[in-house]
Amino acid sequence: MRRGVKHSVMPRRALAEGRDRPPMLENRGGKLRLDMNENLLGCSPKARTALRRLNAETLTMYPEKETAIARLAPWFGVRADEMLVVGGIDEGLRLIADAYIESGRSVVLVEPTFPMYRFHAEQRDAKIRTLRYDREMRFPLREVLRVLSTGPSVFFLANPNNPTGNLLDARTLGTILNAAARTLVVVDEAYFEFSGVTMLPQIRRRRNLAVTRTFSKATGLAGLRVGCIFAHRDVATILKRAQAPFPVGTAALVAAEAALKDRAFVRRAVQTIRQGRATLERGLSRLGVRVFPSAANFVLVDFGERGPAITDALERRGILVRDQGSSFERPGFVRITVGTAKQIRRFLAVLETIL
Ligand SMILES: Cc1ncc(COP(=O)(O)O)c(C=O)c1O
Repeated sequence: MRRGVKHSVMPRRALAEGRDRPPMLENRGGKLRLDMNENLLGCSPKARTALRRLNAETLTMYPEKETAIARLAPWFGVRADEMLVVGGIDEGLRLIADAYIESGRSVVLVEPTFPMYRFHAEQRDAKIRTLRYDREMRFPLREVLRVLSTGPSVFFLANPNNPTGNLLDARTLGTILNAAARTLVVVDEAYFEFSGVTMLPQIRRRRNLAVTRTFSKATGLAGLRVGCIFAHRDVATILKRAQAPFPVGTAALVAAEAALKDRAFVRRAVQTIRQGRATLERGLSRLGVRVFPSAANFVLVDFGERGPAITDALERRGILVRDQGSSFERPGFVRITVGTAKQIRRFLAVLETIL
């Protein structure tokens, strides 16, 4: 939406000429939330216990992020100087954009992808080089390698990708990194736990790689806003220079640490979601709906022309899914988060009546 705004003091051009961001849907509590790729199994009880233990002193003190990093880093197999904590990947992306995107320099995106990459690139007045997944949701590797040879500043790549769900293997990512000598490749591993593919072990030998992770998805702490960036310590040093001193609250740090140690919870959640994804894919196919293969906790479907009507009908019955028509420039594409077996049964039953 572009709304007239009067200025007494001129803001940056990207903002003055920009659009308002449509607000995210709210009042979602109590509905079947298949729209935001949250963990529909909940979160680790150990994280909730850690939150209950917060006392007046811990709440009155500013958060101590270096201490938190020192404790978290070994769980990821990295050193403290290779890791940042951020207020969710969303804020991590802002930090990366602040540190690495100079106005007028190029940023590469393969769309449809997570929209915040474009958002941050536009905020920095970057020149955006957009490539696209094809109709079969295949990744345009050859074009990507060609664009990287021109030396753009940043390439944002979600792996697995949202909303297509597809996954590049470590070897392909290696080829991309080898071709990106002058580009920071941000491999966004928000859904890593579901795919098992990671570039994290490579940060120490590549100064053109940043890996992002979040506690919002498999770990189920989206409400706390906490994530991490991992990079070679020279890259991490630059990012730390650009970061405010208290980017993540104490409650988020404490819960993240407790959740990270509760490996059993995440393992169980991932297993449930993987099984659920297969059930959901089968159920959708049985109803004649095209489903794209996914390595994450959601699937992308193509409902065709009836997509928007189906999404509305689901919403009227208390089931939220995410319309992706605008990302694909054609109505019909919808992203559906995988929930528990019971939630999937309810969704498929309601969908069947609508279809
Ligand atoms: C690919 C990708 N990256 C990042 C995020 C946001 O993560 P966070 O909650 O840590 O900001 C999402 C959320 O949907 C996502 O799909």
